[in-house]
Amino acid sequence: MRLLILGGGWFLGRALAEQAGQRGHQVTAFTRGKSSSSVPHATLLLGDRSNPMDMTELAAQGPWDAVLDTSGMKPAMVEISARTLANATDRYVYVSTVNVYQHWPTQPLDDDSPIRQYQLFGPPGESRTDEYGREKAGCELAVSSVFGDRATLLRPSVILGPREYVGRVPWWLRRIAAGGRVLAPGMPQWPIQPVDVRDVAAFALDAAERHLTGSYNIAAPIGHATFGDLLDACRKETGSDAVLEWLPHDFLQAQGVREWTELPLWRPYLGTWQVDAARARAVGLVCRPLADTVADTWAWLCEGGSLLVHERAARLGITPEREAAILAAWDARPV
Ligand SMILES: NC(=O)c1ccc[n+]([C@@H]2O[C@H](COP(=O)([O-])OP(=O)(O)OC[C@H]3O[C@@H](n4cnc5c(N)ncnc54)[C@H](OP(=O)(O)O)[C@@H]3O)[C@@H](O)[C@H]2O)c1
Repeated sequence: MRLLILGGGWFLGRALAEQAGQRGHQVTAFTRGKSSSSVPHATLLLGDRSNPMDMTELAAQGPWDAVLDTSGMKPAMVEISARTLANATDRYVYVSTVNVYQHWPTQPLDDDSPIRQYQLFGPPGESRTDEYGREKAGCELAVSSVFGDRATLLRPSVILGPREYVGRVPWWLRRIAAGGRVLAPGMPQWPIQPVDVRDVAAFALDAAERHLTGSYNIAAPIGHATFGDLLDACRKETGSDAVLEWLPHDFLQAQGVREWTELPLWRPYLGTWQVDAARARAVGLVCRPLADTVADTWAWLCEGGSLLVHERAARLGITPEREAAILAAWDARPV
């Protein structure tokens, strides 16, 4: 197949290019060339997808059997891509997110849960999670309105694995490698269900090859792993003798710990990790064990892998001083 990746330079797009190349597809990647000067297994074309002229020039390089859009973040940008590529590709696979669901991250979800309404300007005081989800919902709408049943919408939950630029597992690996008393959030048996970047890429390629239509949640099965499994895998891979101190959710909330980012992947709601991906599983989604994702992320870091300079990575992690202060407050609590 001839495939066009809108993106390809960072994380999911690179995994897609690599697997598409291994499957024998002919791959073109389109980026601005800011974050990388080449995409392995792909011919790289340069341009800005928010510029209609660049997109018109790109469309002239077609046709493609499928476009795989990993970099569409704003509805206006995605609308330009969808409209200019409408006659240059058979299928448009758009990588969205579970944030499009109205009730993520607090309540359980399935493939038919209600979606956020897109509006140009969000309500005052909107959270970043809500804004991101609302905008991705607008991107989905832009793709569906142009491609109809030639569109595939993929809604991954948290994606982890080598080259993870948000830096969630890299942060935990480095923190645990540093040793000592580690503030661990909640309880070890707290279920989690992140999905490996390579498993998302494999499903996206299957969707393109098999003309899968409609929307698919992409998550590991509910209860696939626990927070304890994640941190134990970090201890095992780094060979660390760090001591995990599991502090209850309500204590962390009372200390004002910023959920999701200050202790990466921690949210105190069970709903965050109750994303049912039955539709994708029914057509072949396979998720590898979390321990493999952690091991391969550590191997990538040890080989010199480094995080991108990315605004999301900048907000990640608790400082050693604050971690120590919270542990001291825990030790000093009245019992
Ligand atoms: N991380 C998660 O946990 C998670 C969870 C759910 C869903 N998602 C979704 O998964 C996707 C992740 O993709 P990724 O970042 O890993 O993809 P990627 O394709 O590896 O990286 C993004 C690429 O887009 C290019 N790009 C950015 N803006 C551009 C523009 N205006 N014109 C042309 N190229 C542009 C960047 O290169 P240049 O800078 O060189 O242009 C980069 O190569 C996103 O859509 C995200 O919403 C992520």
